[in-house]
Amino acid sequence: MIGHLLSAGDLDARSATLILDTAAELGNLAGREVKKLPTLRGRTVVNLFYEDSTRTRISFEAAAKRLSADVINFSAKGSSVSKGESLKDTALTLQAMGADAVVVRHPASGAPHRLAHWVEGSVVNAGDGTHEHPTQALLDAYTMRSRLGRLAGLQVAVVGDVLHSRVARSNVLLLTTLGAKVTLVGPPTLIPVDVAAAPAPGIAVSYDLDAVLPASDAVMMLRVQRERMGDSYFPSAREYARRYGLDGARMRRLPEHAIVMHPGPMNRGMEIAPEVADSPRSTIVEQVANGVSVRMAVLYLLLGGKA
Ligand code: ASP
Ligand code: CP
Repeated sequence: MIGHLLSAGDLDARSATLILDTAAELGNLAGREVKKLPTLRGRTVVNLFYEDSTRTRISFEAAAKRLSADVINFSAKGSSVSKGESLKDTALTLQAMGADAVVVRHPASGAPHRLAHWVEGSVVNAGDGTHEHPTQALLDAYTMRSRLGRLAGLQVAVVGDVLHSRVARSNVLLLTTLGAKVTLVGPPTLIPVDVAAAPAPGIAVSYDLDAVLPASDAVMMLRVQRERMGDSYFPSAREYARRYGLDGARMRRLPEHAIVMHPGPMNRGMEIAPEVADSPRSTIVEQVANGVSVRMAVLYLLLGGKA
């Protein structure tokens, strides 16, 4: 496999499928009494987080520990970043501590790519600005494949704040590589103008959620990312929920087999109603559990673990 995982676009269908298949094998561990494998014993994984995270940080930590790697957790809050230390100097410090892999989340798009030039170990992008979140796309694809049995030919609606969503971008890249069709749905202000003007093959754009739902196998609701919004992109939260929120009535427009996804964290009552988030069609908790297996697979393949 490649030495880093920076973008979902770096994965061809073969390598993406290898990650999903490896995750499925490693996922069997979760049901065992002893969940640890000795595979990455003696290896060090650093979690370098410059932006808040619950799921991604914890699941990378769990994944590395289940493979018996040593884990160092670095959070920019409370570190010498407050004294002006740069990403490069922080990275070189971690390198000196023998990091074999650096898992990085950063508010600047492209930060993991820079990091990959400065450290010797593998770099894994855990979310960079509005750019990409490749392991989220992998765990989403894993969840769709295990719930719906396939990815090729699936119709996936990705709904909401597409403009600010690294989850949407990575999902579009990965899902189209794996043969699914993606419809981006949201208010015109929250769909990138270039994408709406000329959608790439396998991608469609719609501003009408009710029209898209009956033909969807999976609907992925995105969080409205207020922290990335300088301007007002819609009249009010209430109006947004009325047009683009997934409530019980809208969910019933989906085909019976369809699943409802959300990467988390959710704005309950805005993009998704509690009744939908907690319904049997929701895979939200499953996505988190699958995230551990997928991240184990990524670390295993990048660090060259032997069975
Ligand atoms: N947790 C995901 C991310 O960090 C999605 C979100 O925050 O809305 O990109
Ligand atoms: N889905 C996701 O990346 O969640 P966190 O921001 O909590 O890591």
